[in-house]
Amino acid sequence: MANVTVVDHPLVQHKLTLLRDKNRSTAGFRRLIKEVALFLGYEVTRDLPMNTIRIETPLCEMDAPSLQGKKMVFASVLRAGEGMIEGLIELVPSARIAHIGLYRDPETLKPVQYYFKAPEDISDRLVIVVDPMLATGNSVAHAIQLLKDKGANNLRLLCLLAAPEGIAALQARHPDVPIFTAAIDECLNDHGYIVPGLGDAGDRMFGTK
Ligand code: URA
Repeated sequence: MANVTVVDHPLVQHKLTLLRDKNRSTAGFRRLIKEVALFLGYEVTRDLPMNTIRIETPLCEMDAPSLQGKKMVFASVLRAGEGMIEGLIELVPSARIAHIGLYRDPETLKPVQYYFKAPEDISDRLVIVVDPMLATGNSVAHAIQLLKDKGANNLRLLCLLAAPEGIAALQARHPDVPIFTAAIDECLNDHGYIVPGLGDAGDRMFGTK
């Protein structure tokens, strides 16, 4: 699928199976989601621009590879994005974090913003939008639009599971945003849940079920 990277590393797939299991404890779910985020973060940052810096090892001088700039934002779509942010921030401790709070209006079913905070210089940064479940794609597409309205112009979406419907909806609205996911599941059910999925990611990570 164009512009979609499925991270099918054996450890990711194994941990995803553990996450899907309905008997996984809240503590186990939290730990696993953070671990999987580390692997996904590794993949989403694979092509970051590099340069070399002159350093001295105990033996000699060398030109050693170094990240060109550390200008990155992880944009967490509340609340489920938070579980993955914990892992990502360990990978890139200097990254800035944006928060986007959206809820679905029960009448219109459209996403409504209740919180938005992002770094001022977002137009100079690679923005990795983090939302574990790409289901209908409505809320994440809205979150991406809010980020673009503030100047973001280099975005990627990092999720854990994607439904084909969500991928199609997101690509229709934001074809410039590459998607990174651990798996593409079968479909959405009538309630907008990913099938087979893992249930409500927020409820499972915060124990609010
Ligand atoms: N959000 C979730 O947490 N789970 C789904 O299956 C779909 C949306």
